[in-house]
Amino acid sequence: MSALPALASVPAGLVNLADHEAQARTRLDGNAWAYFSGGAADELTLAANRHGWDTLQLLPRVLQPLSGGHTRVQLLGRNLAHPILLAPVAFQRMAHPDGELATAHAAAALGAGLVLSTQSSIALETVAQAVLDEPGRGPLWFQLYLQEDRACTLDLVQRAEAAGYEALVLTVDAPVHGARDRERRAGFTLPVGVRAVNLEGWPPAFLPKLQPGQSALFDGLLRRAPTWDDVSWLQTQTRLPILLKGVLHPEDARQAAGLNVAGLVISNHGGRTLDTTPATAAVLPRIADALGGALPLLVDGGIRRGTDVLKALALGASAVLVGRPYVYGLANAGAMGVAHVLRLLRDELEIAMALCGCRELAQISRDVLWDPTLSKNSTASHQYE
Ligand code: FNR
Ligand code: LAC
Repeated sequence: MSALPALASVPAGLVNLADHEAQARTRLDGNAWAYFSGGAADELTLAANRHGWDTLQLLPRVLQPLSGGHTRVQLLGRNLAHPILLAPVAFQRMAHPDGELATAHAAAALGAGLVLSTQSSIALETVAQAVLDEPGRGPLWFQLYLQEDRACTLDLVQRAEAAGYEALVLTVDAPVHGARDRERRAGFTLPVGVRAVNLEGWPPAFLPKLQPGQSALFDGLLRRAPTWDDVSWLQTQTRLPILLKGVLHPEDARQAAGLNVAGLVISNHGGRTLDTTPATAAVLPRIADALGGALPLLVDGGIRRGTDVLKALALGASAVLVGRPYVYGLANAGAMGVAHVLRLLRDELEIAMALCGCRELAQISRDVLWDPTLSKNSTASHQYE
């Protein structure tokens, strides 16, 4: 284990990720709770994500050889101990004073990949420096929001490269904040001292004076909203592999594959941007089928159980990301809480693998999923038409 700061112990009795959530609710104030736990509008997508995993059922195989089993996986040319990464979540000092530093230490100790948000509340260099030399750490990726000013984007990219980040995760599903009713009801504001420190030093976005009849959104905030051309441009500006996060439409997935991006994160931003999108569990197999293995696929949204991870892999993901659960762990016990959440999820994944008769991730196929619409469960290719 690496030296974890703030070695608070995990409160007794937390045995799963839902327990962490319930505990965190008692620790976070209403402002932070609305921000971390909330989704967009009626939160239908937020609920659908959970429902999507819950309603998939498993059909285990028995008496399979299990000895020597493991959760190792190859991703972007690296060997990972397991397929669970921490999703980019902004402003983590609102959950715990150690914020992203605690998260990074826990990820490193548990061999989990870490994706640091552009809007982290601790500088990207500070986070990287703390864990870069940790033996056994997982990959360290930087989540990028394209900035209105390309010079500012480039500055972020170059800082991430210099700091040692190994890939860029370009988030493309949030050119504008979703309609976050819960945040607005709570009157959400960032507490004093919690800021998007990576973006400081740049002048605030220049908003032109609107003419009568113009839209504050389309002619203001979004008048330079990123397009596919910006993805191509970014590819010419960095040596780092680029993954696109927030793709749901198979056509967008094909377009991304055409640009030779390094991978996709199938995500609806944890139900925080556009409400009423389908669950990522429903979208993932469509995209896997559309791409036929052309790109590594990662998925996030509502993953709370080892069985959810196994189902995601069965549907074609190489790895998964979790968002809110580790922030709840962070709120509950700093780095130890994040580590605990990761440990629980990984242990559950191993149990689920064993009980499904899979001793390695490559053995997890759609055959482990029960589909009652089929008389036989063997013809996987027919299941998702
Ligand atoms: C996010 N997410 C996110 N995504 C991103 O690309 N950049 C960001 O800065 C943030 N910030 C952020 C803050 C909070 C509070 C949450 C809950 C989420 C989305 C995140 O990376 C991920 O897609 C979802 O959180 C996954 O869903 P679950 O695991 O939270 O259900
Ligand atoms: C969010 C932004 C920061 O989901 O991505 O709050």
